[in-house]
Amino acid sequence: MGENFIRDPHTGHQTTGHEWNGIIELNTPVPRVIYFFLAITVIFAVGYWILMPTWPIGTTYTKGLLGDDVRADVTESVKQAALQRAPWASQIESKSFAEIEKDSALMNVVRETGRTLFGDNCAACHGREAKGNKGYPNLTTQSWLWGGSPEAIAETIRVGINSTHPDTRSSQMPAFGRDGMLQRPDIDKVVAFIRSLSHPNDKTIAADQATAGKEVFAANCASCHGEDAKGNQEMGAPDLTDAFWIYGGDVQSITNTVWGGRNGHMPTWEGRLTDLDRKILALYIADLRSEKP
Ligand code: HEC
Ligand code: HEC
Repeated sequence: MGENFIRDPHTGHQTTGHEWNGIIELNTPVPRVIYFFLAITVIFAVGYWILMPTWPIGTTYTKGLLGDDVRADVTESVKQAALQRAPWASQIESKSFAEIEKDSALMNVVRETGRTLFGDNCAACHGREAKGNKGYPNLTTQSWLWGGSPEAIAETIRVGINSTHPDTRSSQMPAFGRDGMLQRPDIDKVVAFIRSLSHPNDKTIAADQATAGKEVFAANCASCHGEDAKGNQEMGAPDLTDAFWIYGGDVQSITNTVWGGRNGHMPTWEGRLTDLDRKILALYIADLRSEKP
């Protein structure tokens, strides 16, 4: 082509013969630098094919001179991690809770690994520091629903509370108001009584209300929460005299609890976490509490 078209008088280049409204296209060569980069990419690609795993051939692939294999790297690092874990993992698996609690090296592992496990699985509900949220108990206090020994905690983690596990711990705070078991005046009395137990200095609580509430409590609540209202770990019934509340200790929250009932759900972790991980978590939580005065 070319020869038949006009040569551009300014640049000396031939034109392509394409013309748009009097504008004629120059036939300039592709700049050298483009060929240069094209050549580099081709050389890089060929080099990569030779050195690295690239082309599929049937059921396998070209392995490349470097034999780089990410899967092998992962397998190797998993093996390394398991090797590092093995000595303490088997000790935690075989020793009793009491033995582990006396072994400071193992407890260091428990604190480190337990914190990660807790952050990954439990913090969404109980908070990263295990101090709970409204509806989710604080796990760092002396106040326990089902018991704070590592054995009791391990069982709670295994079966859950009101969970889908066949052996689940089940707890049910009845809805005294909604289900018509108590009339509103009696609810107000029993709430005043409970509030006076945990907040003896609350001047807004009328003494005669609280005294009247004591009888309502004995008749309706003591079977689960105990005569002294200090709770019953057989039934997961909380201590109502202390400073720790799952659903709130102000008059309105307590009234809501007694009126509408409560039915907290804690998932079962059997099948979702290994025996070892659950044992570590039980020790971790028991240890959080024991750091308290
Ligand atoms: C979906 C939210 C949720 C998650 C996730 C969760 N929990 Fe719970 N957990 C609860 C609730 C709610 C309760 C209290 C149930 C009740 O009120 O009866 C509870 C109670 C507990 C108790 C009983 C405390 C006591 O006083 O006896 C322990 C121990 C516990 N959780 C540990 C854990 C651990 C360990 C994990 C992580 C493996 C975890 N929880 C994950 C919601 C959760
Ligand atoms: C059948 C046993 C049972 C009876 C009877 C019962 N409770 Fe409860 N109560 C529970 C359980 C179990 C919980 C914990 C529920 C949960 O966390 O999901 C609870 C929780 C509570 C809470 C919430 C505590 C917190 O930390 O927020 C209050 C308040 C309470 N009960 C008051 C009462 C009063 C008042 C009565 C009597 C009118 C009563 N309960 C009767 C079992 C019972």
